Amino acid sequence: MTIAGKKILIAVSGGIAAYKIHFLIRYLIKKGADVQVIMTPDAEHFVTKLSLSTLSKKPVYSDFYTENGTWNSHVELALWADLMIVAPCTANTLAKMVNGICDNLVIATYMSAKCPVFIAPAMDLDMYQHPSTKKNLDLAESFGHTIIPAESGELASGLIGQGRMAEPETISTQIEAFFNENSNQSLDGKTVLITAGPTYEAIDPVRFIGNHSSGKMGFSLADEAAKRGAKVILISGPSAEKVSHQNIEIHKVVSAKEMFDKVFEFYETIDIGIASAAVADYTPKMVASEKIKKNDESFSIELIKNPDILKTMGEQKKHQFLVGFALETQNEEENALGKLHKKNLDMIVLNSLRDEGAGFKNDTNKIKIFTQTDKKEFDLKSKESVAKDILDFVENQYLK
Ligand code: C5P
Repeated sequence: MTIAGKKILIAVSGGIAAYKIHFLIRYLIKKGADVQVIMTPDAEHFVTKLSLSTLSKKPVYSDFYTENGTWNSHVELALWADLMIVAPCTANTLAKMVNGICDNLVIATYMSAKCPVFIAPAMDLDMYQHPSTKKNLDLAESFGHTIIPAESGELASGLIGQGRMAEPETISTQIEAFFNENSNQSLDGKTVLITAGPTYEAIDPVRFIGNHSSGKMGFSLADEAAKRGAKVILISGPSAEKVSHQNIEIHKVVSAKEMFDKVFEFYETIDIGIASAAVADYTPKMVASEKIKKNDESFSIELIKNPDILKTMGEQKKHQFLVGFALETQNEEENALGKLHKKNLDMIVLNSLRDEGAGFKNDTNKIKIFTQTDKKEFDLKSKESVAKDILDFVENQYLK
């Protein structure tokens, strides 16, 4: 897989690094990509439309209107692209993107784009370190955009530090890697629902019952399913993880009851359901409306059972392919197989807390997969690789 034939929209904003865009265009064109350049009005102070259009072999647009009284359709430009890269992305353009301040052709095109968006920021040292830039980059990432971080070195101001736009070759390699990673569209047209993270069950306005689940496994699964072309509905309890693909629609919940309600808002429409959340089994019967005071020597909370989300999914199963997780400390295989049957699942992923590096907070996991008839054991791997193994297995079972 190469980027030959891929339609790449480069949006140039007004920073000194704009001079490097000529090299980016050359790399992409050499590899057979179809390149369209647009620019902000300020970018024209740094580079000319003539040089950019000569290299990209297309007219370059910076205004909504042409001299002939016609207009440059930002919607058409946006829908044309397989990928949009904003490079260099100045602090100003970044801020406008994440706040929807749509006062030029670049931002209007960006806001109409449905394709993946890459951002290569470039700015001076202190601007790059400024909390507002950091916040805006985080926001852009939370929209599912890919940030190609600025590199360290000598800056136009003479200062030395992080802020230089990544080299054109680095940007071009990342774009290529993106298309390579996304070349397997085996789940195209499928909707995958994934539950992730812990749930928090309120005791009073400040305390809750929770667990150590980080959500990493569920987020890795969501990312991998999205890369394979699925539409992903990710329903996550409190987690610090972020989504990184525009095919993922994230719904944040707190309690098991909220997770249950959200899952069944979508259940009818999904093809595959993967329950990786560590849902609290019990919840306080009463939630105190005020903070509970420590007046007594002992204190007890009455707990009632939470709904079993996955079991209910199993009971209501029609066409859906269901995958559960089992985190066991003893009689692992027997317990996992018991859950497979009891919850009417198609597949269960077992991770044992006895295995070092497996389960909960770790970045790695070691799993065994069971179906009614099959069993497969895997080595300790990163959660990203484990997500690939799980989805390969799902595809083998579900798409056969
Ligand atoms: O029965 P147990 O909690 O061990 O089952 C684990 C599996 O069931 C996991 O896939 C988990 O996400 C799911 N589950 C659920 N709702 C619950 C409890 C567990 O969806 N209340």
